[in-house]
Amino acid sequence: MIVAIDGPAGSGKTTIAKLLSKKLNISYLDTGATYRALTLKALEGGIDLKDASLLAQLAANLNLKLDGQKTYLDGKDVSEEIRTPLIDKNISIIVAHPKVRSVMVSLQRAVAKGKDFVVEGRDITTVVFPNAEFKFYLDADSAIRAERRFRELEAKGMKIDFTETEKDLRKRDDADKKREVGALTLSSDATYIDTTKMSIEEVINTMVAYIENRKNNK
Ligand code: DC
Repeated sequence: MIVAIDGPAGSGKTTIAKLLSKKLNISYLDTGATYRALTLKALEGGIDLKDASLLAQLAANLNLKLDGQKTYLDGKDVSEEIRTPLIDKNISIIVAHPKVRSVMVSLQRAVAKGKDFVVEGRDITTVVFPNAEFKFYLDADSAIRAERRFRELEAKGMKIDFTETEKDLRKRDDADKKREVGALTLSSDATYIDTTKMSIEEVINTMVAYIENRKNNK
């Protein structure tokens, strides 16, 4: 069973997907982490972020291990390092390359294929797992999403500016929607949930109720 979750930055996808996988007692795949790890590797190697062929090659040879909640690159735990504003700033260029996306989509499918997984990312319901048993699209007002992202970084002890966070989020939103391949789109068969005024628990309960209901009515 694949539970696929799409939605813009700050919609709560990562937090929700992690908790939902625990509740359903199945595995969890954060596809954003795969692109983040690739961005880190490219920055470390001083690679030109516009060089799609070189980046695709780097992606194909990526020594990446996704262990539930943690991300390991070349054997090192990079779970925190891939969630810094530096990665946020550079990732949009990398994820826009169709050649890179094609390698990463294969990698993501290979991880979850034939297993029970909650998978989240911008193109999961549309490109990676269009035939997923359950598809959700999480959304929230952009101001709330920026606030959530700001709080998340602040809680990690990072010194950041709210206006800067908001600007970055808007930029990523724009890039995610305008991309030629794998753009963020609301698939017609996905269940849309506006989380603006909902607590995390309410979102999880809504999703679990939906899944149980569909399973029972099969
Ligand atoms: O979900 P996130 O914030 O960790 O995603 C980081 C970036 O990667 C974001 O700009 C969108 C992009 N992304 C993507 O293009 N496709 C995915 N399946 C997951 C993330």
